[in-house]
Amino acid sequence: TSDTRLYQPNAKSPLQIFVRAKKKINDIYGEIEEYVLETTTFINALHAEAEIVDKAERELFESYVYKVAAIREVLQRDHMKVAFFGRTSNGKSSVINAMLREKILPSGIGHTTNCFCQVEGNDGGEAYLMTEGSAEKLNVVNIKQLANALCQEKLCESSLVRIFWPRERCRLLRDDVVFVDSPGVDVSANLDDWIDNHCLNADVFVLVLNAESTMTRAEKQFFHTVSQKLSKPNIFILNNRWDASASEPECQESVKSQHTERCIDFLTKELKVSNEKEAGERVFFVSARETLQARIEEAKGNPPHMGALAEGFQIRYFEFQDFERKFEECISQSAVKTKFQQHSSRGKSVSGDMRSMLDNIYERITIFRNLKQDQKTLLTDRIQGTETQMMQVTRDMKLKIHTMVEEVEEKVSKALNE
Ligand code: GTP
Ligand code: MG
Repeated sequence: TSDTRLYQPNAKSPLQIFVRAKKKINDIYGEIEEYVLETTTFINALHAEAEIVDKAERELFESYVYKVAAIREVLQRDHMKVAFFGRTSNGKSSVINAMLREKILPSGIGHTTNCFCQVEGNDGGEAYLMTEGSAEKLNVVNIKQLANALCQEKLCESSLVRIFWPRERCRLLRDDVVFVDSPGVDVSANLDDWIDNHCLNADVFVLVLNAESTMTRAEKQFFHTVSQKLSKPNIFILNNRWDASASEPECQESVKSQHTERCIDFLTKELKVSNEKEAGERVFFVSARETLQARIEEAKGNPPHMGALAEGFQIRYFEFQDFERKFEECISQSAVKTKFQQHSSRGKSVSGDMRSMLDNIYERITIFRNLKQDQKTLLTDRIQGTETQMMQVTRDMKLKIHTMVEEVEEKVSKALNE
């Protein structure tokens, strides 16, 4: 069907950098976990048999098992997060729907989105939503029902509704991108809470502006606060509703250059989050509503321009795709860096700690053995046998751990470089 053609895995997508890195790091941690478990069993045996290892050491070693398991769990849940902000009705929900190629989030005139909505991929085939503080899964059959569910709930504007949507319906969800929609920045007084609760772990921010007017103070202020709390956030600016400019072709170019200049100044001179060149690649002129319509037509097997709202559709459609490409590159690189660099340095430190602990134990056994031999005491064959065996096993273990640490370090650096 045309659907499968559209949602076929796209190996060339920049998002695959993240997906592959996540898989690699997961595999590496799987190996680390095996080593840690094996070593712990061995350490416990040393404790039981010869008391070479004391209780505190044994407990410390066991704590690595939990540490590694905890990191693995976080790793499984790692995703790329993009958050959308802007004034009411600028088209934040529409932009997300256009990217998801389906009308998932309610959009409409007036103040529509009244709390934070997060759209994320779900492995099962069903769509459902969950509100904050409740474990109940509310089934979602269609957009109307979703809109109703969102309205009926007495939701605080800074609370979060999570919408789980079948992964196979959208490539971005399949590749672990999570979308966060927000109420208009002009309708809230709790912007600080918003940032603390929903923004600190976002990899990319998208400021959705209305190209028919100009950036407002509320929008600027919001991003000033974001960039105070986060060092160099990745910000994209979409001048949405650009289809409206088609009705005034005589001033289209001048409006475009005025907006572009202001947006670039905002990113470079005011927020100081980008240099001139990068900022130039972060500002786009699009029509979310039109893009969504075009994609819905495409899914039906029709040519995309059937969704056109005005003259100049092709240029706007390309610009939206260009935005998506740059966005995908940026988010996957940023997420790999911030998330996996942290995990790999933790992994390195755990394996490093294990290495030095084992070195230490090995040394102790050697001393212990020499001492016994010097004393030439009446060692029974059994104890001697055990000791020799122990030496052997410890040496093997030590070698193994050393190889593992080197292997892990090499793999992690390779994965990060890639
Ligand atoms: P709130 O949730 O209220 O903060 O608004 P929002 O920013 O999510 O805007 P929403 O996506 O609900 O869009 C508001 C209205 O503008 C809807 O009726 C959309 O269909 C329309 N709209 C969104 N994007 C475009 C666009 O690019 N061009 C045109 N002509 N209309 C658009
Ligand atoms: Mg909305």
